[in-house]
Amino acid sequence: MIIVFGSINMDVNMTVKRFPEDGETILAPSYTSTPGGKGANQALAAARAGSKTAIVGCVGDDGPGLRILNKLKRNEVITSGVAKSDDYPTGMATVVKDRSGGNRIIMASGANVAVSADQAPAEILHSKNLLLTQMEVPLEQNAIAMKTAHDNGAKVILNLAPALTIPKEMLSLVDYLIVNQIEAKQLAKNLKLDPKKDTVKLAQAMAKQGKLTCIVTMGAEGIIAVTAEGKGWQIPSMDLEKVADTTGAGDCFCGTFAACLHEGRSLETALKMATVASGLSCLKEGTQSSYPYLAEIEDAMKTAAAAKKI
Ligand code: RIB
Repeated sequence: MIIVFGSINMDVNMTVKRFPEDGETILAPSYTSTPGGKGANQALAAARAGSKTAIVGCVGDDGPGLRILNKLKRNEVITSGVAKSDDYPTGMATVVKDRSGGNRIIMASGANVAVSADQAPAEILHSKNLLLTQMEVPLEQNAIAMKTAHDNGAKVILNLAPALTIPKEMLSLVDYLIVNQIEAKQLAKNLKLDPKKDTVKLAQAMAKQGKLTCIVTMGAEGIIAVTAEGKGWQIPSMDLEKVADTTGAGDCFCGTFAACLHEGRSLETALKMATVASGLSCLKEGTQSSYPYLAEIEDAMKTAAAAKKI
């Protein structure tokens, strides 16, 4: 089983012609509110990609929290490890997109600050399970969950998003690190590596220093992955005729990658399937509702570009 220790938010989405300047108010014609949060998104993507998945997190005792949990349950994500806080409302993110498909997100943590690593006890963080986590929950709780999983022999995937500074010891608990290019540069600075290095060199340096597999997602340019032993792949993203929405595509990548790896596929195949899934997710509006099911991923894999060894 995959255990996702992570954030659960309600997203308020608006599309504008352009982002506002400092001090400017602009009008959006409408808005939607949809379940989100990097943890919840990744859990749903993993479940759709065919893995038994549970989420451990915290919501408020409110309507948004209930709505999000119902959606996760309908998608076969186990939610019994989600706590309800009396003190905080469910986390909320404002997702503003412009017409080019770019997005800017501001997240208010709400109940995500109240999640505790105790909710993911050692009994479930064992070697047959895999822990997938991100950075929208308190760092110290993340570190405890990761240490428990690592000590018990469970594989640990960390999506360092947003790119907060983490202690070096925390990286030693990670088997697979997933970052986008901005996060890679921020992490490089923290690790005293040269952030101006090209992405391949940066991934190689981070994989070597962290003794882990480093995966850098690069949007339309695809992904780069390098193992601690220096094996590497460059995988192009899908050719998409029209991008509807890139929000949450990185979460789709992380969840699908975790599922494919956990179901026993090779690293190269899991990377390819995750790249394909995140591409498919850009064809539809929204985050969770755009994530593909395993059959769609397998179908799109037939025409996916080959990985190049680096
Ligand atoms: O990665 C996209 C997600 O980031 C959104 O769903 C939002 O909730 C923020 O967590």
